[in-house]
Amino acid sequence: MNIQYKFLNRHVVITGGARGIGFEMTKLFLSSGAHVSVWDYAQDNLESARRELSAFADKVHFAQVDVSKAASVEAAAQQLPWPIDTLINNAGITRDKSFSKMAQEDWQAVIDTNLTGVFNVTKTLLANFKTDSTPKRIVNISSVVALYGNFGQTNYVAAKAGVIGMTKTWARELSRKGFTVNAIAPGFTLTPMVEAMPAEARAQIEQKIPVGRMGMPIEIANAAAFLASEEAGYISGTVLSVDGALVV
Ligand SMILES: NC(=O)c1ccc[n+]([C@@H]2O[C@H](COP(=O)([O-])OP(=O)(O)OC[C@H]3O[C@@H](n4cnc5c(N)ncnc54)[C@H](O)[C@@H]3O)[C@@H](O)[C@H]2O)c1
Repeated sequence: MNIQYKFLNRHVVITGGARGIGFEMTKLFLSSGAHVSVWDYAQDNLESARRELSAFADKVHFAQVDVSKAASVEAAAQQLPWPIDTLINNAGITRDKSFSKMAQEDWQAVIDTNLTGVFNVTKTLLANFKTDSTPKRIVNISSVVALYGNFGQTNYVAAKAGVIGMTKTWARELSRKGFTVNAIAPGFTLTPMVEAMPAEARAQIEQKIPVGRMGMPIEIANAAAFLASEEAGYISGTVLSVDGALVV
């Protein structure tokens, strides 16, 4: 059973909110009473999310945004239908290759989306936050690999470690202004990307996870909802691992 969050009168932007972990967050925040603006660059993901969320039509807003492009982010910020109080930087991609085979383009694409994207969106949306006493929350989705490295992920690990650095810096700069800023470090989570892996590779990974299984997207969404809640108001600058004890 899910914890009951109270997000009435809360207004949330979720990047990459149309699929996978982000879509699970979109559903959880909507069903807890929030208004949600789903920012995603994939039109097909946006369309299927829109179909699935037809029951929330008056509370959900969709925008096709490429977080890696400042102009796209600025245009979307101008179209936001309401001031916001919560931002979840979740959009992310992978371009995995061993370091010796990793091309400059693989490096740049991942840095542009996973690191610069978080910078672009947060910097732009600071001006769209409510100015009243509503709790203000920024939750950045990093990864457990940012904490211990991972074969074949130089670009991704660098970006996700950078996200943790920005989280800590923004916690220092913004907490006095009514924000909390935190990161989540998910472990292996069963999204379409992971489901597509061969069963043998999945089984090998699961053997290494003390809890004995991969995480579910709703388990990451629940962590984001907790950090976004009013009750988490004294938690800022932290990195919450949600990884089944993979890294302890
Ligand atoms: N799945 C995992 O095991 C896992 C583990 C650790 C961290 N994460 C992180 O969690 C987040 C979500 O991952 P997921 O597995 O749900 O991925 P996913 O690929 O299923 O969904 C990502 C969504 O982000 C969107 N997106 C990608 N690039 C974008 C851009 N430039 N602008 C706007 N939208 C963009 C995609 O269209 C997609 O809808 C990512 O940041 C990922 O790095 C995932």
